[in-house]
Amino acid sequence: MSKSGRKAVPSDLSVGEMAKRAGVAVSTLHYYESEGLISSWRTAANHRRYDRRELRRVSVIRVAQTLGIPLAEVREVLSRVPKGAAVGKADWADASALWREEIDRRMALLERLRGQLDHCMGCGCLSLESCPLYNPGDTLARQGPGPRRWMDSGSENSDQ
Ligand code: FES
Repeated sequence: MSKSGRKAVPSDLSVGEMAKRAGVAVSTLHYYESEGLISSWRTAANHRRYDRRELRRVSVIRVAQTLGIPLAEVREVLSRVPKGAAVGKADWADASALWREEIDRRMALLERLRGQLDHCMGCGCLSLESCPLYNPGDTLARQGPGPRRWMDSGSENSDQ
């Protein structure tokens, strides 16, 4: 938050107005601000004010949250927009294209997981060695060939 000596202009919003316009709680605005996603400034009377252009940032954050995009990625996108500037059409086009790729990637992953779950439903083994959902990516296989758990624990099997 800036403590500039800036004078409020009629288009600036108080925290309550900003929350109402953005459709979020005041605490949510504070959280976004603490995460560096939006910014405000204070009047000489120590009242928090938001530039109206910050509303566009909140809109982007809300859409991203609906899509399940992590805040770190939202921050990355918003950091490309100069401070004090509104998120423009081109900024939004870039972000939405990026996030569409992420959603495509997740959908492919979920479809693969659903296929594995179908297999598991008919199995029920819940085996660390052979169940792709219990041991996704076969993490033990990356440690090398052979019976890894057996090799790690001498003659005793530590799976139990
Ligand atoms: S439960 Fe047997 S493979 Fe997943």
